[in-house]
Amino acid sequence: MKLRLTQKTPALHIPPEWVLPESEVTLESVYLNRRNFLKGFGQASLAVMSGLVLPSTLQAQTSGENRITPESLTGRFNNFYEFTPDKSRVRQLAKQLPLDDWRIQVTGLVKKPLTLPVADLIRKWDQEERVYRLRCVETWSAVIPWRGFPLRKLIQQCDPLSTARYVKFKTFLNPNIAPGQKNRFWEPWPYVEGLSLAEAMHDLSFLATGMYGHSLNPQNGAPIRLVVPWKYGFKSIKSIAELEFTREEPRTFWQDMSPLEYDFEANVQPQVPYARWHQSVETLLGEDKAIPTLPFNGYADQVASLYK
Ligand code: MTE
Repeated sequence: MKLRLTQKTPALHIPPEWVLPESEVTLESVYLNRRNFLKGFGQASLAVMSGLVLPSTLQAQTSGENRITPESLTGRFNNFYEFTPDKSRVRQLAKQLPLDDWRIQVTGLVKKPLTLPVADLIRKWDQEERVYRLRCVETWSAVIPWRGFPLRKLIQQCDPLSTARYVKFKTFLNPNIAPGQKNRFWEPWPYVEGLSLAEAMHDLSFLATGMYGHSLNPQNGAPIRLVVPWKYGFKSIKSIAELEFTREEPRTFWQDMSPLEYDFEANVQPQVPYARWHQSVETLLGEDKAIPTLPFNGYADQVASLYK
């Protein structure tokens, strides 16, 4: 895929064809308290919020399956191994994250490396609202309203060299605040993930700084996390401290942990079983009925061409 790294972002965001009108998406009532939700958004953001990002293929399923998952569930059932493998305890332990003045660094094969506070990134670009499905390799799933900006914007700002082919993402390393990082069973730390540059430049690749109309919860990856909705959830790395542009495909945390179980690409593929169980169905948090998992988590129309 040919990348257009110098393309300018238009001042007014026109939703692309895969953004569905809000009226077609079933939303959780709490989330639909529009007046509260809109607090804190500027005029430009209002224009962006005219659409929500759910792929049209998902509309073929029953509307209940597109309902926003209540925050009471997505905020209390978390994978964040830096703190603990116990999903129900992450929320309490992640309160330790030192969010004030959190800095993000961009290094490696770029013309303009940078280090700057995440707060500056939030001020710099209009924050968009995107509702994405999240599909965990463990077979649970959720529908989450994120706020943030396309990863592409940060990449364009740093101007990658022509030799850059991958982006490696690293979480913080601080065992004093994240006790899981003392755990020698799960290692090597820090948690590392990666995307090809073409994947990272795709319109759907998103850096989230908020959710449900407020800043990101610590347990969900504050102050900034990746969201790549067509890949298994483990690719969506939380609490990012560094992006490094590389020529070689980076090793990832889960590949190091268990190379036969996790591959670098990790696209949602219902027909390909994971080493320990099949992936053809999933269960939304809070539901008890299993529903079919869709190729690329329902985003095939948008991303399948990346892999041809
Ligand atoms: N990022 C970091 N830094 N550490 C982690 O343990 N877990 C991943 C991903 N990002 C993880 C991470 C996994 S396995 C999943 S399924 C999602 O985060 C879960 O995101 P959520 O807790 O916000 O639902």
